[in-house]
Amino acid sequence: MSPSSERNLQAVNLPDDWQPDGWRRRTARQLPVYPDAAALADVQQELRALPPLVTSWEIQNLKQQLADAQEGRRFLLQGGDCAENFGDCTSDIISNRLKVLLQMSLVLVHGMRLPVVRVGRFAGQYAKPRSADTETRDGLTLPCYRGDVVNAPAFTLEARTPDPRRMIKAHARSAMTMNFVRSLIDGGFADLHHPEYWGLDWVGESPLAEEYQRMVSGLGDAVRFMETLAGTQVHNLNRVDFYTSHEALLLPYEEAQTRQVPRQWGWFNLSTHFPWIGVRTAALDGAHVEYFRGIRNPIGVKVGPTSTPDDLLRLIDVLNPDDEPGRLSLIHRMGATQIGERLPALLDAVRREGRRVLWICDPMHGNTESTSNGYKTRRFDNIRSEIEQAFELHAAAGTRLGGVHLELTGEDVTECMGGARALTETDLERAYKSQVDPRLNYEQALETAMLIVRKHAQGARA
Ligand code: PEP
Ligand code: CO
Repeated sequence: MSPSSERNLQAVNLPDDWQPDGWRRRTARQLPVYPDAAALADVQQELRALPPLVTSWEIQNLKQQLADAQEGRRFLLQGGDCAENFGDCTSDIISNRLKVLLQMSLVLVHGMRLPVVRVGRFAGQYAKPRSADTETRDGLTLPCYRGDVVNAPAFTLEARTPDPRRMIKAHARSAMTMNFVRSLIDGGFADLHHPEYWGLDWVGESPLAEEYQRMVSGLGDAVRFMETLAGTQVHNLNRVDFYTSHEALLLPYEEAQTRQVPRQWGWFNLSTHFPWIGVRTAALDGAHVEYFRGIRNPIGVKVGPTSTPDDLLRLIDVLNPDDEPGRLSLIHRMGATQIGERLPALLDAVRREGRRVLWICDPMHGNTESTSNGYKTRRFDNIRSEIEQAFELHAAAGTRLGGVHLELTGEDVTECMGGARALTETDLERAYKSQVDPRLNYEQALETAMLIVRKHAQGARA
């Protein structure tokens, strides 16, 4: 048994002063105001009775894999849309996103020689934090759009009024997404013998095609070689684990999915395997931290450039008091211009205190900017630079970068600038689809996986 799984068996103290609705006594940031409290309570009751989307044993398996990543035995790939929306719950969009994540993980496995933990930002990524509570257009002020689980983007009072029934629809859409992903994977879609299944139409004409095809055939050869040696099919190559995550922002929804299960102590959020706290809701005394401290899932916290070493250590004390392996991931999102200045003190503090965390780099959210033609975008060069600096800063601090967190899609969108096709400001007009943050398109996503591999290899040689 590995040292980390032994530690997993140690008793972890139950927070006996915790209840799924205890967050209500704290200040809750970023929550909508529902006009009809009784309708909200009815929806929560309905949600409590619906079947869960994931199980506690899947959650515990993921926690173990994240514990392995903390020890450098795995690398985490977490990616998906900034926000899912109800209209995009279609077979093409779901399978293309799964394909690009599988392709990226293939590149990472092949290049890093490490098993990859695959976590989608989907099947529940429906709630968004916003910088302002309201939006004004031509003298009319309405509540801001907070994601499809809360309201709709159209600028009318009806669309923007928070509607609790949307939670039922979000649960159903999440279940459909999960069901399709599980069926694809169980049906052999993720079979490493057949990475050609994941070909997206573009691969043939992409500047990256050759490098990718080389890896695919290299991997196919390696699989066949191993099977020749073993004289049998190598098991576990015909299926992969896939886990889900979302920002657990809308606490009435999350609370209603928080349950106790037979033969396990404590409470699990059964709407996703790996919920995270966004940067705007990570206040130590806030409702979100209060909710998260009591669930047994592995959890993530976004860490931004204003976070201080003291704040971070106190947050770690509250969220992982027993230093449980795999429990806590810190997702830093500083921005290419700030990471060099802001990250090292945090890495030093956590290492000095001997706290066990998984460090993940989100190179997206610190690099958002607006163009003169009014698009919210990100430059591929800044994303690349933040990832490269993250590897270097961790190496210098004696800590380990254990994963990346990306906003991406399997579609041919033009939302981020740069990359192998050098997309420009004018290209953004062609296929900008996101209602919220700009995502890497399939090609930029694959290029990101390739640059991670290159940077990781440099570290290994250094
Ligand atoms: C996000 O991940 O979409 C997000 C809003 O991130 P952050 O909390 O880091 O700003
Ligand atoms: Co985002």
